[in-house]
Amino acid sequence: MARTGGGKKDIPGLAARRAAVFILEQVLKRGRTLTAALEAADVQLSALEGRDRALAGHLARTVLRRLGQIDDALSRFLTRPLPKKAERVRTILRAGVAQILFMRVPAHAAVDLSVRLVRDDRATARLSGLVNAVLRNVLRNATDILAAQDPFLLNVPQWLRRSWTQAWGEKAARAMAEALLEEPALDLTVRKPEEAAEWAGALGGVLLPTGTVRIRAPQAPVPELPGFSEGAWWAQDAAAALPARMLGSVRGRKVLDLCAAPGGKTAQLVAAGAHVTALDSSAQRLDTLRRNLERLRLCAEVVQADVLEYAPPVPFDAVLLDAPCSATGTARRHPEVLHLKTARQVKDLARLQDRMLDRAAEFVAPGGRLVYCTCSLQTEEGEERAHAFLRRHDGRFQLRPVMPEEVGGLTHLVTGEGFLRTLPHMTIGTEKHLDGFFAARFERTT
Ligand SMILES: C[S@@+](CC[C@H](N)C(=O)[O-])C[C@H]1O[C@@H](n2cnc3c(N)ncnc32)[C@H](O)[C@@H]1O
Repeated sequence: MARTGGGKKDIPGLAARRAAVFILEQVLKRGRTLTAALEAADVQLSALEGRDRALAGHLARTVLRRLGQIDDALSRFLTRPLPKKAERVRTILRAGVAQILFMRVPAHAAVDLSVRLVRDDRATARLSGLVNAVLRNVLRNATDILAAQDPFLLNVPQWLRRSWTQAWGEKAARAMAEALLEEPALDLTVRKPEEAAEWAGALGGVLLPTGTVRIRAPQAPVPELPGFSEGAWWAQDAAAALPARMLGSVRGRKVLDLCAAPGGKTAQLVAAGAHVTALDSSAQRLDTLRRNLERLRLCAEVVQADVLEYAPPVPFDAVLLDAPCSATGTARRHPEVLHLKTARQVKDLARLQDRMLDRAAEFVAPGGRLVYCTCSLQTEEGEERAHAFLRRHDGRFQLRPVMPEEVGGLTHLVTGEGFLRTLPHMTIGTEKHLDGFFAARFERTT
């Protein structure tokens, strides 16, 4: 149970809801990422017990995943516009509806605590009756509301629906959207791959065909799980673990990891025996990379620079470019991307990705490999960039197709052209779902 400022004990569950509302305001009103919002809520979250902390995060993610359905439900009963000064009430209502329709929390607690949050603030107190009435209406009509809703149409912005349907067909686009509604499992990459099965057993997880250990329901926060403090593994989605492997055997090779922070792929390359230069433009993210490598007892040369301005003295045997992108492939863990990203941003990012790829190509030694990857579901940031690169560098670089045996024999993760392409609804061995990723491998011929 959390304590309020005056040392008074708070009503159970109230502080978790208050923290979730704060996190949601940071994302939906201030345009911050969920990670930044969680950092901003650190003081509030640290005052909570583990279960309440998890509830606050889960509630915020549920609102962001189901925002379209939630607003549709509210629009049925919220017939007058809310006063400008009381916009916070909308966030409280959204969190209330998320609990009633989509979470396993007692409905009466969802209503009572929402009313309480509104009443506790002088600016909104007079709207507590309205909040009570709207939420009770949603509760009474829950079954009918859900039966009438199309989650794909309501939760996925139109530009993304169009883009996914055009690229993958409506059936796949709908399946992707459905996969994005689920709370993802915890995926781990084990530093010594030969110990992966052992860690899967120790952590109550399963070993996927690609080597990732998947834990469906972690028993504790990540830093408290066995093996974390001794650096035996790091959290990395099963899809994110694939591109670095496409550089092939890197033992003893000089590898340049571009856009490296927070270092998941750097760690893989160092653990595989490469001499890695890890480059990123963000000092803050590089601090996280350094901390991660230190915990894992892995060493790399760390460079803070802009890819577009970097000029290494000698070329590298292999280069990995994990370019900045819309990150729509990570919407299971970062549901805010669906609300914060725009079609315009994808266009701008595609131009930046071309420039970065051209720059990265300069750093590859003859005969060396270049892997380009993004965690995007947009072909403009994946397949189209790879094709454009091959056209611009015809004769100098050729495509080296990815083979299914490089990704655990999973043929459905490799396209006919030899690109790696994962989509959120795909299966991985006996498990469902993974992040959306694209990767292409090129080889410098001259
Ligand atoms: C997709 S994330 C990288 C994830 C990382 N490769 C991993 O596996 O943990 C993209 C990174 O690109 C970096 N970045 C963005 N623009 C950059 C630029 N012009 N030069 C260097 N790094 C850049 C960002 O700071 C961010 O850390």
